[in-house]
Amino acid sequence: MEPSLKIRPMKTSDLDAAMEVDALCLPAPWTAGIWKTELESPLGFHLVAEEKGRILGQIGVKNILDELHITTLAVRPENRRSGVARNLVEAAIEEFPDTKEVYLEVRPGNDAARRFYGSLGFRDTGRRPRYYGDEDAVLMTLSLRSH
Ligand SMILES: CC(C)(COP(=O)(O)OP(=O)(O)OC[C@H]1O[C@@H](n2cnc3c(N)ncnc32)[C@H](O)[C@@H]1OP(=O)(O)O)[C@@H](O)C(=O)NCCC(=O)NCCS
Repeated sequence: MEPSLKIRPMKTSDLDAAMEVDALCLPAPWTAGIWKTELESPLGFHLVAEEKGRILGQIGVKNILDELHITTLAVRPENRRSGVARNLVEAAIEEFPDTKEVYLEVRPGNDAARRFYGSLGFRDTGRRPRYYGDEDAVLMTLSLRSH
């Protein structure tokens, strides 16, 4: 990790920057209302990647028992391929050391995200019909169970 990159919990004062990142990255970014609900959820946990006071990316997860669900992840286009997302995912998992499975939904055509998750050991494990309304989601899962 670049020494200047900080991964830290998201604060409400980061919301504008996180929404700006999302608008650059996601086809259906969360509204301020959705963000508020997610940030207030007792199951939710959000991190940002910050460099020199600038928010480069964000991740949200929900923890239920030994499962972690990645609910949002985005990195500014100009800061990609330098490990920002990998550091965000690893830091989120470290926060919940009892995690046995991490899962997420991704659009079938989102090659960058599918390759990214694949590089971390996630595998395609299912399909959620019409998850995005207009499109199915591919379910990807990382198993951390010891064999
Ligand atoms: C997916 C996303 C979060 C990856 O962020 P990132 O910070 O660029 O990812 P990292 O730099 O940590 O990548 C780690 C590894 O993942 C793989 N990877 C990441 N992006 C890739 C791409 N576009 N093509 C192929 N492999 C890729 C590579 O193996 C990479 O390692 P390398 O750069 O040493 O080859 C980013 O592309 C993004 O914000 N996309 C738009 C939003 C989105 O799709 N979010 C996920 C919704 S489910």
